[in-house]
Amino acid sequence: MKVLAFETSCDETSCAVTSDREVLSLYTISQIDRHEIFGGVVPEIASRLHVECIVNLTRKALERANLDWRGIDGIAVTFAPGLIGALLVGVNFAKGVALALKKPLIPVHHIRAHIAANYIASPGLKPPFLALVVSGGHTQIVGVRDYNKFEIIGRTRDDAAGECFDKAARALGLPYPGGVHLDRLAEKGNAGNIRLPTPRVENSPYDFSFSGLKTAMVNLIHNAKQKDETVCSADVAAALRAKVAEILTGRTLLAAENFGYDTVVLAGGVSANSELRRRMKEECESRGISLHIPPVELCGDNAAMVGVQAGYEYAAGNMADMSLNAAATLPIDYV
Ligand code: KG4
Ligand code: ZN
Repeated sequence: MKVLAFETSCDETSCAVTSDREVLSLYTISQIDRHEIFGGVVPEIASRLHVECIVNLTRKALERANLDWRGIDGIAVTFAPGLIGALLVGVNFAKGVALALKKPLIPVHHIRAHIAANYIASPGLKPPFLALVVSGGHTQIVGVRDYNKFEIIGRTRDDAAGECFDKAARALGLPYPGGVHLDRLAEKGNAGNIRLPTPRVENSPYDFSFSGLKTAMVNLIHNAKQKDETVCSADVAAALRAKVAEILTGRTLLAAENFGYDTVVLAGGVSANSELRRRMKEECESRGISLHIPPVELCGDNAAMVGVQAGYEYAAGNMADMSLNAAATLPIDYV
């Protein structure tokens, strides 16, 4: 099935053409440089920039896939969760295209799409498996029982892992979004020089809490500044990265063991983190667990993962009519 897919849930406008698990074309425009001076995504600016470039991106994606509009079998779009104004741009554009072409409209959940990035990179991968979803807004351990059947096993009670990285990076004076910059800086640091607590959620061995860790980091940096002491930024970055990777890996593998999963996948922007990738690989290898991680270019928001998940939504009959709306929040097991 050839799918024309759109992703506009946050600050990337992305359009792709996919054929089952194959990516025929993918174009993504990041808006980061337009939000950077504000230190975070400005929702209205994000919506306006999506409006500006979505038509040209679509033309390019079709051209690259060597298809015209008639060669497309379905139109897919991320409809939730995300910034509502940003999502609405993609949803409304997809509706217009589906209406004009008289093709099925397939709504795709953003987190399901992140998990589906693994189907592109690992053609043999099939549910059931366990997914660690780590992005700017989400941190969840999800049992993927089938392509459209999900069970949330653990989740963050407060901040997402990406948010923790971004806030700490900001306190270190790194550019927005800080996760990737903190990751690079951490390569030069020594994690052993700074001790950090391991936050736990009582009676919930698979849940996370990152807000305490985030505050501990920010306080450490600010207190040192106030006392005119120097903290080695690289050590701070390395310590935080190591602690977050340790927590994510430990709880995911505990869930894998207790829920009987022998395959684990990473999904979402934070799965680009080098320490998380390394640690997961080591731990999975030593326990005989098969691990799948998307290539870094498919970890962040992109429409290819939306198109691939759409194929499975279509197969399950999960289509939308012209009343489709966007939703800022929606659990992954909504249907
Ligand atoms: O999935 P994503 O692109 O957008 C959301 O759906 O939220 O994830 C973005 C998050 C940001 O918090 C960003 O800082 C983080 O992923 N991120 C990283 C790395 N690359 C992106 N965090 C840690 N290390 C990285 N290398
Ligand atoms: Zn995302």
